[in-house]
Amino acid sequence: MNFDINKLFVGIDLVEVDRFKDIEKQKKFIDNIFSKREINDCRGKNSFEESLAGRFAGKEAVKKTVEESIKFNEIEIINNKNGVPRVNFLNKKMSEKYKSIISISHLKSIAQAICITYKKT
Ligand SMILES: CC(C)(COP(=O)(O)OP(=O)(O)OC[C@H]1O[C@@H](n2cnc3c(N)ncnc32)[C@H](O)[C@@H]1OP(=O)(O)O)[C@@H](O)C(=O)NCCC(=O)NCCS
Repeated sequence: MNFDINKLFVGIDLVEVDRFKDIEKQKKFIDNIFSKREINDCRGKNSFEESLAGRFAGKEAVKKTVEESIKFNEIEIINNKNGVPRVNFLNKKMSEKYKSIISISHLKSIAQAICITYKKT
């Protein structure tokens, strides 16, 4: 099997959870960043703010791994049934070109995420 390290990209990000307190009042900001599914997903978590901050860190981490400029709301991070966060590119061009995996962690004050992206083409 041929392994080409030039097709792998890594990105990391840290976010302050405080930034997401009372965020639902900022509807425009929310709509520009998160999908409805992401918001609903985070509502079911122990801490809405922490989980939202984790997704934001995740999106920043993903952005660091791709060559193009991509909008936050073109990246969706949803947990599977085991709680594992999965990255969906909502932009077809990006989903055809990249596959990303992600890991998220959060505390009361800080959320962080790391992303590894494989360039398929
Ligand atoms: C998953 C686990 C490690 C989280 O650790 P924690 O210190 O409580 O929490 P952290 O802040 O570091 O991480 C939380 C994030 O981990 C991610 N996560 C949750 N479950 C996960 C899993 N099974 N695998 C990978 N990532 C997971 C989520 O993104 C979560 O944040 P979110 O719910 O807001 O999206 C812990 O709950 C655990 O050990 N669970 C048992 C393992 C398990 O559930 N396995 C499922 C069987 S496949």
